[in-house]
Amino acid sequence: MSLDLDKRQRAMLREMGVRVWQPMPVVAEVQPVEAAINTIATGARIERAQPRFDAEKPVVAPARTAPAPVAAPAPRQVPGLPPRPAGIDRMDWSALQAAVSGCRACALCESRKNTVFGVGPAAADGVAPQVDWLIVGEAPGENEDLAGEPFVGQAGKLLDNMLLAIGLQRGDDAPARTGASRSVFITNVLKCRPPANRNPEPAEVAQCEPYLKRQVELLRPKMILALGKFAAQSLLQDSVPEVQKIPLGKLRGQVHHYLGVPVVVSYHPAYLLRSLGDKAKAWDDLCLALSVAPTVVRSA
Ligand code: URA
Repeated sequence: MSLDLDKRQRAMLREMGVRVWQPMPVVAEVQPVEAAINTIATGARIERAQPRFDAEKPVVAPARTAPAPVAAPAPRQVPGLPPRPAGIDRMDWSALQAAVSGCRACALCESRKNTVFGVGPAAADGVAPQVDWLIVGEAPGENEDLAGEPFVGQAGKLLDNMLLAIGLQRGDDAPARTGASRSVFITNVLKCRPPANRNPEPAEVAQCEPYLKRQVELLRPKMILALGKFAAQSLLQDSVPEVQKIPLGKLRGQVHHYLGVPVVVSYHPAYLLRSLGDKAKAWDDLCLALSVAPTVVRSA
């Protein structure tokens, strides 16, 4: 079986940690990203190498239209905890940011230094930024609590490299990387740090849930990447029966939905820092997400 790959496809396979052992003639036609992924799935002679997260060249692909939102049940107030701000489900982006900053709906407000709403491109007053991808992590850690920004520690550096490899760059501040688009918003299930970085408690997740739900409604991304068990469970609780009992690995490899938005589940970057062998699987997850919501890369 011959494997005809052009320069761009070979670059992409390199990014995915896949080494191709067959001769690679140059072809004139550029196939879409999906074709390269399918080539891998057809069983051509390939070997998976340790993936690299130091992006060389992001993938270029056409934009797609955002899916229509689908109603989800309104999150219930957790008994015994202070009420959340009223009307979260009708807030605009600035009101939502202000509500998160002032939130006192669980005990995490006592110990936090800052709330962590999320980071993305600057938005006009009251309007959510236009992004194609939403990344959802677990909760702020110590660094994030101090900075008021998600994923600023070691796990964040890995996340930034993973995103750069698929042509996405966080926020507005850092100098623009060639070709990367800012079409990504990064947030967490919890907007406040659990003390001593303990796991989020179910009541905390439940109290914070309307904020994430409203972020999704306002951002209307084309892809949500759920990083780790808490993000997966929080986003899939209404669509996957008994999701709490399903190991993360079994939620990977398929496209779920939350409010009509495709969701791909992957490993948390902090876990990947400890389990290097699973980086290749994280690449598979990124490629699956990319096949649904290609990133659009600026020329020059
Ligand atoms: N881990 C997360 O899940 N989120 C952060 O913001 C930082 C570390």
